[in-house]
Amino acid sequence: MKNKVTKAIFPVAGLGTRFLPATKSIPKEILTLVDRPLIQYAIDEARAAGIKEFIFVTSRGKSALEDYFDDAPELETALRKKNKDELLQELKSTNMESGAIAYVRQNKPLGLGHAVWCARRLVHNEPFAVILTDDVIAAEKPCLQQMMEAYDETGGNIVAAMEVPREKTSSYGVLDCESEDGATVKVKGMVEKPAPEDAPSNLAVIGRYILTPKIMQNLNKLKSGAGGEIQLTDAIAQEISDGNPVYGYRFRGQRYDCGTKAGFLQATVAFGLQRPDLKDEFSDYLTDLMSMRQAAE
Ligand code: G1P
Repeated sequence: MKNKVTKAIFPVAGLGTRFLPATKSIPKEILTLVDRPLIQYAIDEARAAGIKEFIFVTSRGKSALEDYFDDAPELETALRKKNKDELLQELKSTNMESGAIAYVRQNKPLGLGHAVWCARRLVHNEPFAVILTDDVIAAEKPCLQQMMEAYDETGGNIVAAMEVPREKTSSYGVLDCESEDGATVKVKGMVEKPAPEDAPSNLAVIGRYILTPKIMQNLNKLKSGAGGEIQLTDAIAQEISDGNPVYGYRFRGQRYDCGTKAGFLQATVAFGLQRPDLKDEFSDYLTDLMSMRQAAE
């Protein structure tokens, strides 16, 4: 049995410029898919995987995110008075126990590796997970839980992996694979955002990681990499050079890139169609919309 993973880092310091003007006054992690903010999906996934301590790497302008996890006594009283029990339960499920959540600031936007490094003192000498809230994954068994089960067998470092079209490799960390065993891929190299002609494969890293504390030491020494930023991919690749195991895990599930507008819209439609209270009305609307479009063509 490996050392249990109970801490997760959520790098949420990004400016979210792709979603301006909305992100002028709200953090992008609060943008909602149907009626839940992106961050809630990430927290639910972490909880399902056994995470007990939630570490947020924030920045200026993210206070709405911090408030989101507090108790909301006025709202609770109002809902109780109106006997809205279901909503009350829903609301309470978003509260975080004091001490379960910690915030550290990333005061300069120096990259994902730097954001993770900012949490080094909270991680101490334990393995930890990293969840990127932009990557929303719909899955029967939550992605991080699938990875925890794989980690129980392998230990080491594991990153979620998915095949992407070759022309898209420059948007991802890309794996150089040594061997495969079911869903688990032994990795012999990793490159951040390679051009398609330089990519070692089309197996891309998706934003879920289980990492050894050694990654923090690697980040200590790291110079900036792709895009002039300190890259988490480079700190993980360093482990491979040092002879320590790194695996890719081909998760089962559908990933939505909610860091882009198109991906966000796709996720909204998919999640809307999943909801028992919305799916009939919404799917009728989409069917009508498609037939109107076809008629107009
Ligand atoms: C980050 C990582 C990259 C990974 C991607 C997954 O990139 O640096 O390795 O493939 O997330 O979404 P970003 O999307 O923040 O540029």
